[in-house]
Amino acid sequence: MVNPSKKILLSGVKPTGRPHLGNYFGAMKQFVDLQNDCESFLFIADYHALTTLRNSKQMSPAILDVALDYLAIGLDPEKVTLFKQSDVPEVTELAWIFNCVTTVPYLERAHAYKDAVAKGKEVSVGTFNYPLLMAADILIQDADVVPVGQDQKQHVEIARDTAEKFNRIFGEAFKLPEPLILSEVATVPGIDGQKMSKSYGNTIPLFSTDDEIRKLVMSIVTDSGAGVPKNVYAIHALLNDKESLDRLYEEKAGKYKDLKEALIKDLIAFVSPLRQRRDELVKDRAFVLETLKKGGNVARGKAMQKMRNVRQLLGVDLF
Ligand code: ADP
Ligand code: TRP
Repeated sequence: MVNPSKKILLSGVKPTGRPHLGNYFGAMKQFVDLQNDCESFLFIADYHALTTLRNSKQMSPAILDVALDYLAIGLDPEKVTLFKQSDVPEVTELAWIFNCVTTVPYLERAHAYKDAVAKGKEVSVGTFNYPLLMAADILIQDADVVPVGQDQKQHVEIARDTAEKFNRIFGEAFKLPEPLILSEVATVPGIDGQKMSKSYGNTIPLFSTDDEIRKLVMSIVTDSGAGVPKNVYAIHALLNDKESLDRLYEEKAGKYKDLKEALIKDLIAFVSPLRQRRDELVKDRAFVLETLKKGGNVARGKAMQKMRNVRQLLGVDLF
């Protein structure tokens, strides 16, 4: 049952590869930290992934992987609704309705689309419409807050604009959502100092093995000269408070190898319990599937209610 005194939180992650420290600290950690305070809806954005992942043999395990990731970081399915986007087909219906109230020039301003065009990619209609499917995800569940990294800010703003425009044309149906972006982790840097991203090959996966962590940390690009290797420090700062970190980096100024060793130790200590929990969960596929199925029913129930209201406002609801 939805608790009306709690804010509704909603966010999604695409099943497009192993989550990394950027995904975790930028967005996923907030899902866990807020699960007691908010009524949370967290999903696997499989239909969004379809813009790049068009292979059923890869899609199914990738969906399960995100479900495992969600559970392993500590989301409690008794408290939050975990589901996959494709189990709420009303979302795609609403996205169509938004297609009809949004203009092409407006969507042409979206960064992700502009980047794809700039790179000379053959852009699918789905990639162009991506922000409207995301608007539908958010608005159909009456979300108040949407925890995401900086790169998704514009998408949440598009959802807000779309809600306003729909409400203006047809009558009040949607709440105006707010992005939740924590400034210190808005854009977590990767091992090369650029934004950590699956598409840049510069990630430290959240569930890395000790060997992977060692290798990746050793390959962090360090700038010569300055005593503090800023790319090492930036990742270290995700795990430690500033004071103790500054002390360490002062003590070991210029000793890059020692500082990397310290980061390796801290990362392993942080990652191993998460990895262990994930290894346990992998053995209970039935539980993971059941969790997704139950969550899908809850999310769909809410979406169906919302769509009854939307259809009335459109004037297509005759019976
Ligand atoms: P990627 O860019 O690696 O493909 P996704 O698009 O799957 O990541 O992002 C999932 C969530 O993680 C989104 O909320 C996104 O904003 C957030 N995120 C991704 N990379 C970073 C980063 N480097 N720093 C902060 N948040 C991030
Ligand atoms: N577009 C998001 C990403 O690339 C994933 C996503 C889809 C999402 N629908 C959402 C995030 C709704 C927040 C809310 O990471």
